[in-house]
Amino acid sequence: MDRRKVILDCDPGHDDAVNIMLAGRSPKLEVLGITVVAGNQTLEKTALNALKVVEHLGLDLKVYKGCPQPMVREKQTSAEIHGESGLDGPVFAPLRGKIEDKHAVSYLVETLMASDGDITLVPTGPLTNIAMAMRMEPQIIPKIKEIVLMGGCYQLGNVTPAAEFNIYVDPEAAHVVFSSGVPLVMVGLDVTRKVQCYPSVVERMRSIGTKAAHLFADMMEFFNKTQKEVFGWEGGPLHDPVTCAYLIDPSVLTVKEMYSEIDHFGGQSYGRTNCDYFGQSDKEPNSKVAIDIDVEKFWDIIEEGIRNYS
Ligand code: RIB
Ligand code: CA
Repeated sequence: MDRRKVILDCDPGHDDAVNIMLAGRSPKLEVLGITVVAGNQTLEKTALNALKVVEHLGLDLKVYKGCPQPMVREKQTSAEIHGESGLDGPVFAPLRGKIEDKHAVSYLVETLMASDGDITLVPTGPLTNIAMAMRMEPQIIPKIKEIVLMGGCYQLGNVTPAAEFNIYVDPEAAHVVFSSGVPLVMVGLDVTRKVQCYPSVVERMRSIGTKAAHLFADMMEFFNKTQKEVFGWEGGPLHDPVTCAYLIDPSVLTVKEMYSEIDHFGGQSYGRTNCDYFGQSDKEPNSKVAIDIDVEKFWDIIEEGIRNYS
């Protein structure tokens, strides 16, 4: 069976790191490369975090640094969730390799233009790199098979009542992506909040006993602590890996076609994903929005992903 070609665009970030782990050894996915963006922490930190995870897991993947700040807004991070390093908790060995010299946006443009139109982009951070690539070379747009992104919400936000972090950090980039016409799957907070990584889940995965299992557990123990402090959750919502879980087994999500647009006008709802759930606008749907998740199946996919590592 052909493995689905993906490029992960991320801001590690604990949940981004689990998505790299999930995709890295999946027999259903072929990760072509990892592009990194500023988001949970500064670009310097998120790029190093991606490299740390790749080396810790023994993955043969290149990491490309992208945009250090949003297209218009001033940059902001979520250190309160991911810590000063952006991946606090686990201890990593000193890095052996290095980040690629090529800029992530150039990598995205060159790789997509050279492709047969069979690459899926999986952004799990602010959409700055993806939008900049579309602006730099609009000819990549028809070459993108699909974008499966973690971001947005058709209900409550997590940075403001209206907006979710990845969209809120760079609403203008999100507008470019959502209005591009590329087939889009939006995995928002509406479903990711249903996969809270309770201590029982952490122990289930740690008991696998491998290096990957301990990395997962060490990351989640820190993630759960800050999520409890900030939101009061008993388990941190494992947002980003829902994207690759969907690519591995689409039946894990229930999606609904909707017209979705971004409030990029700077008011109280700046950064909101306005998703036309009831089809009240006269606009053709431009996205598949996740409206439910099979929680048990999701954790089985995560366990299987960890077990793919010896
Ligand atoms: O709102 C949650 C999203 O913002 C996740 O992708 C998390 O990693 C942060 O980037
Ligand atoms: Ca992220």
